[in-house]
Amino acid sequence: MHDINNSAAETPARSVLTRPVVLVGLMGAGKTSVGLRLAAALGVDLVDSDTEIEAAAAMTIPEIFEKYGEAHFRDGEQRVIARLLDARPAILSVGGGAFMNEQTRAAIREKGVSVWLKADLNLLVQRTSGRSHRPLLNNGDPRDVLADLIAKRHPIYAKADVTVESRPRQTHEQMATRIIKALTAHGRSFAPEPS
Ligand code: S3P
Repeated sequence: MHDINNSAAETPARSVLTRPVVLVGLMGAGKTSVGLRLAAALGVDLVDSDTEIEAAAAMTIPEIFEKYGEAHFRDGEQRVIARLLDARPAILSVGGGAFMNEQTRAAIREKGVSVWLKADLNLLVQRTSGRSHRPLLNNGDPRDVLADLIAKRHPIYAKADVTVESRPRQTHEQMATRIIKALTAHGRSFAPEPS
């Protein structure tokens, strides 16, 4: 249930989320931190596909990459996201590579609404620096890796239903409010709360 009578977000005064909202975008785009604020504002859970994969495998993502390789991780990621899309509508933060998978994209399109959190290279580098839990950024210069991923992935992320750009110095709350506005304009995410 969502109650934001005075919010600039302009959803129906009391409304419920009717389908999962799937946050896509590169590592460091803010999917999890913005997703937390978004979930709180909408009164639903935030579910993180990486966390679910780690729980299912009883291993961290770096361990999965190291022991079984990226392709194995991608299989698990596809299965986990398919399951999460069938669960109660929530905010679903998915790993940066998930939307590159065609079946996953089709499932998200069918069952959810996708939101691309679009951030530029400097912001992504800044937000991911000093962290070691992302295997793709542990080989080579993270700026080069991220620049390469921008070139490969941004054209695919652009297929998301809604795009919201990260702005410098914007808080996660402000970003969440802009996402709610964009989702409301898109029109497939909310329904009035049944009385
Ligand atoms: C990946 C992004 C990570 C995680 C894995 C691979 C990617 O998730 O799924 O390390 O391919 O971009 P975040 O985007 O949540 O960091």
